[in-house]
Amino acid sequence: MAAELAALSGLPSIDLDAEIEARTGGTVQALFERSGEAAFRRLEADTMAELLESRPDGIFALGGGTVTQQRLRHRLLWSGTLVTLHAPVEELAQRVGEGQGRPLLSGGDPGESLRAILEARADAYAECHARISTGGRAPAEIAREALEVAELDPIAVPLGARTYRVLVGRGVRARVGGMAADLAPGARVLLVSDGNVAPLWADDTRERLERAGLDVTPVVLEAGEEHKNIESVGRIWEQALDASFDRTGAVVTLGGGVVGDLGGFAASTLLRGVPVGHVATSLLAMADSAVGGKTGFDTRHGKNLVGTFHQPGFVLCDVELLSTLPDIERRAGLAEVVKAAWLEGEAAVRALEADAEALSSGDTAATARALRMAVALKARVVTEDEREGGVRALLNLGHTVGHAIEASLGYAGMRHGEAVALGMVAAFGLAERLGRASAGTQPRIGALLSRLGLDTNVGRYLNSSTLSYIGSDKKRKGANITLVLPGEPGDVCLAPMPLEELSSHLLALGTGH
Ligand SMILES: NC(=O)c1ccc[n+]([C@@H]2O[C@H](COP(=O)([O-])OP(=O)(O)OC[C@H]3O[C@@H](n4cnc5c(N)ncnc54)[C@H](O)[C@@H]3O)[C@@H](O)[C@H]2O)c1
Repeated sequence: MAAELAALSGLPSIDLDAEIEARTGGTVQALFERSGEAAFRRLEADTMAELLESRPDGIFALGGGTVTQQRLRHRLLWSGTLVTLHAPVEELAQRVGEGQGRPLLSGGDPGESLRAILEARADAYAECHARISTGGRAPAEIAREALEVAELDPIAVPLGARTYRVLVGRGVRARVGGMAADLAPGARVLLVSDGNVAPLWADDTRERLERAGLDVTPVVLEAGEEHKNIESVGRIWEQALDASFDRTGAVVTLGGGVVGDLGGFAASTLLRGVPVGHVATSLLAMADSAVGGKTGFDTRHGKNLVGTFHQPGFVLCDVELLSTLPDIERRAGLAEVVKAAWLEGEAAVRALEADAEALSSGDTAATARALRMAVALKARVVTEDEREGGVRALLNLGHTVGHAIEASLGYAGMRHGEAVALGMVAAFGLAERLGRASAGTQPRIGALLSRLGLDTNVGRYLNSSTLSYIGSDKKRKGANITLVLPGEPGDVCLAPMPLEELSSHLLALGTGH
């Protein structure tokens, strides 16, 4: 298959086992017998890592056990397209015969051994960009399917059997039918949208879902953060149950962060949990909220205080949908993209600086590039810390002051992303003041945010009235606040700080002292 793929793509094909045998002068079987599986896996990982450095453009044929190593598997996922090939056990047993030359299969009944191996490796094999069925198919056909996956270039969020893919680009919404059909064996879909998005994009989405043979029940919520409440969740539940929705169906959200959070929450609780897929329509949802599985709604006590973790089955970020997004919403979303770039590193920040004017004017190619960076970063962070026990909290860069500003304004008149932009300027000012970031860091982030059309004049919010809302933030632990403090790009840390100390630093920043 690798040879067929190489012929189709024009790239060289490299067989990892053959490469190891050539380098060591022994067969894989002999290496296994001599040094044991653990030592062989280390050799395999080192050889693969070296190949990724020296010959990154190629088709690599890996052994069935190679991707059982999590670190290597994730490295492969971040640096290329990883597909796993599947076939019925009976066919595999026939292909391997008595298992000669396959150390894990020699001795005993190969069918039984295969079944046990596949079961043990199921979660690892699910962590890929695509699972391709090979049973009864010609290699050329399988190769064409693998090449299509590579061209689509999905970003995987590897979470074992709950692994999902995010597609970013122009026109990727065309995939919604097939992806939703995979989530809904009963071919029923609840399409949740809001009053602004539905008139623009619901017919387009509905047609695509129906063309895939799905029966669609539309739910249109009232738009806006003020409707991110239990009443909206109740509408989704009731309309689903009115339509006799059952557990073989799936929810598809079509909207910004509000619709995604509400639809995700409703899906996680409806009939004790049904799958959800997100078609993100705002830049913020594409860059941030649609990926990661956080769902929820607001109560009179604050934002997002009730919610669940419920990972989606797919996420589509079609930049064409942004053509109808109001400019001010687009710019607000760019604040989260800047945040992601700073977490990612110098190259990502430079890329945004180079693209700032294109991003500001809504250029789709530049937007797709920036979104891919933000989604890939979020995918990696979520994989490492799905439930925010550690590194995921770094995504709150700029949010401590941002949330306080939003709360002080009663969550009206300012978008979340606009507040995050202001919050970032404050966080960078604080980091410089504390010696964590070098001088010039705050002006650098401020200049980038300004070029993207965001207000960076945070000084007027750094007063005791606004800062009193910091205490109401969920990130407060006793008298301490856990701050996200930036250093250079790619170097951001969590730092606990007494609330009083934080307030006095921020007040001093506000007065320019
Ligand atoms: N779950 C998470 O991890 C996470 C992360 C960040 C933010 N959030 C949440 O996301 C929400 C903010 O998301 P948002 O900024 O997308 O808000 P939003 O969903 O309210 O969308 C902003 C506005 O744009 C409209 N809109 C969206 N897409 C459009 C399109 N293509 N064309 C025309 N109009 C369109 C919406 O109707 C709305 O009026 C907040 O509630 C925040 O708490 C969640």
